[in-house]
Amino acid sequence: MNDRPPVVVVTGASAGLGRAIVREFSRQKAHIGLLARGRAGLQGAAREVEDAGGKAFAAPADVSDPQQVEAAAEAIENAFGPIDIWINNAMVTVMSPVSRMKPEEYRRVTEVTYLGSVYGTLAALKRMLPRNQGVIVQVGSALAYRSIPLQSAYCGAKHALEGFLSSLRTELLHDGSNVRITSVHMPALNTTQFGWMKNRLPNDPQPVPPIYQPEVGARAVVYAAQHPRREMFVGISTVGAIVGNRIAPGLLDCYLARTGYESQQTDTPADPASPNNLWLPVPGDHGAHGSFDDRSRNWSLQLWANTHRTSLAAAGAGIIGAAVAAFISSRKSRSRWPLLRWKSR
Ligand SMILES: NC(=O)c1ccc[n+]([C@@H]2O[C@H](COP(=O)([O-])OP(=O)(O)OC[C@H]3O[C@@H](n4cnc5c(N)ncnc54)[C@H](OP(=O)(O)O)[C@@H]3O)[C@@H](O)[C@H]2O)c1
Repeated sequence: MNDRPPVVVVTGASAGLGRAIVREFSRQKAHIGLLARGRAGLQGAAREVEDAGGKAFAAPADVSDPQQVEAAAEAIENAFGPIDIWINNAMVTVMSPVSRMKPEEYRRVTEVTYLGSVYGTLAALKRMLPRNQGVIVQVGSALAYRSIPLQSAYCGAKHALEGFLSSLRTELLHDGSNVRITSVHMPALNTTQFGWMKNRLPNDPQPVPPIYQPEVGARAVVYAAQHPRREMFVGISTVGAIVGNRIAPGLLDCYLARTGYESQQTDTPADPASPNNLWLPVPGDHGAHGSFDDRSRNWSLQLWANTHRTSLAAAGAGIIGAAVAAFISSRKSRSRWPLLRWKSR
């Protein structure tokens, strides 16, 4: 990337984490292509970008349709020039036990959450590979490695994305490409999804605590886009779920069987008539935050440490160096004492 503002595409830019990512990039005066279905949310996001001094191009598109994604990519490049960063973020989910899921719901969640990201990646690669530069960020989840009850379609889609990306990574390495791919795995976030996901539970859904504000995830995505690594885990709960699952998956199965139903629901009875976003966007501009502001953290020590690894390593090396130097000098002065005592006699 050079001195011009970065050209960034965000899918699912109208609301939730995508909206927070857009706001974070607009602080860098980025030129941002906004993809989502809801016009009001796209217009709201575009306004925020322009107010912050960036430039926005709203490209209404359903990511489950590869032609719409490709047309959006083309329109964004016509407006802003070469895309530097592509962020696959759009998603839908259904909160329901497997036994009550419908085949068409599995298909829809897979087409948006899995294939939507695959189509986004294809549109990005089509432009980035010939230029031999660019970064594709996949917004992942702790659930990409550790499934939980009641979200089988979403967990399957997130797991599938890791399979797809691992394969692509090896191809890019094989070809010696400079195009980078990074997955940023999120903890539970206070986003709009819990107010509009299709829900078959008796009560309203909630993110599994601890809950972070979407800005925490957005900061991680912007960092990863500009310092791409293979993967990045956000929040100590994400690290715990992924690492814990590697060590004792059976134990986590039992734990989640016991806690996973309750931890995903509030005490408020669900309204069966409330609209959901599975097939069509919910009208209006919903912003980034859900309704859990009072229970959400705006900061993650783990993320801070994760994004300051070099300075922490340097500080650690400095502390170890100082400790070694102090130890050596104490040994030297102790060995000098007998000599001083002998001389003074
Ligand atoms: N919130 C969490 O607890 C959490 C935890 C881990 C990971 N994540 C990840 O964070 C990302 C964002 O999730 P979120 O919580 O922000 O979800 P959200 O609040 O429901 O927002 C989803 C976004 O995707 C868009 N979208 C939905 N279907 C679409 C389609 N067919 N085509 C284009 N855009 C579509 C929505 O806009 P329109 O309706 O206007 O199209 C909206 O902008 C996802 O990748 C998710 O896996 C979230």
